[in-house]
Amino acid sequence: MKRLLVGLIIIFSAIAFVVLGSAARSSASFTQQIPKEGKEQPKKVKLDTDSLDDKWGEVAFDHETHSIKSYNPDGKTVTSCVFCHHTDEPKESLKPPRVTSERNVALTADLLKDAAAAPVKACRTCHLQAGDDSKQLPVITKDGKQMKIDNENAYHINCFECHDAAIKAKPDLAAKISGSDPKGCAKCHVAK
Ligand code: HEC
Ligand code: HEC
Ligand code: HEC
Ligand code: HEC
Repeated sequence: MKRLLVGLIIIFSAIAFVVLGSAARSSASFTQQIPKEGKEQPKKVKLDTDSLDDKWGEVAFDHETHSIKSYNPDGKTVTSCVFCHHTDEPKESLKPPRVTSERNVALTADLLKDAAAAPVKACRTCHLQAGDDSKQLPVITKDGKQMKIDNENAYHINCFECHDAAIKAKPDLAAKISGSDPKGCAKCHVAK
């Protein structure tokens, strides 16, 4: 009986070692923190490491896969930089509610090689956390209502729009990613 117990403890410790070890390794590869603006495209980043939410903490985001692989819902095309970096395209190509432009040519990877090109601003430079009044939050009208685009709304609208469409086109993806599904928070956020 005692030997069986010792044996079981050894087996469970080995499993825990492997499971915890691999979780630590995979989150450890997402270490990069983003400066307020920059010209170097990040690879694996951690967003929201300062989350004020009681339950939901940081979000790992792979900038490399999202800007190189065919992650558009059609599964065939690469997402344009300006789908996410929406202020980095000329005013005339913007569609409401997008009206603010800070660049006269659409952002591309090649554009950033030019030493004269302006750096890319991080979303957080404009989309502050709710309760941070150091700068006015952008406001849009959605379904007839005014909506303040804090960091939560900005990223959620951006990430969910595409993830929802991608899952609709390819239902198997629901096992891996989540969009507006109220039960899918842990597919992006680390639970506190
Ligand atoms: C230079 C400031 C600035 C930066 C940087 C910025 N935004 Fe915005 N964002 C705005 C403003 C201002 C609005 C309101 C609409 C407008 O004026 O274009 C807005 C609106 C939005 C909206 C709501 C409208 C829509 O397109 O659905 C989303 C979502 C959004 N931003 C996401 C992001 C994400 C994601 C990033 C980073 C990849 C980002 N923003 C970077 C200023 C910014
Ligand atoms: C799926 C959305 C998405 C796409 C597509 C995308 N980015 Fe980003 N990008 C982000 C997010 C999110 C960040 C993280 C920083 C932040 O919070 O704004 C970022 C950060 C950056 C940064 C660093 C900014 C800083 O503050 O240091 C650069 C440079 C950049 N992106 C360039 C590009 C270029 C060039 C492309 C196209 C080849 C591109 N991005 C495509 C979402 C995207
Ligand atoms: C234009 C579409 C699009 C946008 C915008 C987008 N994603 Fe994704 N994302 C995808 C697709 C498609 C996959 C799954 C690809 C596959 O496995 O086939 C994915 C996968 C992921 C994964 C799994 C790991 C990986 O990189 O493959 C995470 C985590 C993720 N997305 C987080 C985010 C976050 C956070 C945002 C917003 C900042 C975001 N995504 C914005 C399309 C998008
Ligand atoms: C597709 C990935 C994704 C999913 C799914 C997701 N979130 Fe988020 N969430 C983000 C990103 C990215 C941010 C903002 C990152 C930043 O500000 O740097 C964020 C920010 C937040 C914030 C703001 C925290 C703060 O103080 O900065 C809250 C609260 C939040 N999410 C709650 C939720 C809840 C609740 C769910 C499930 C119903 C959920 N999220 C699902 C990606 C996601």
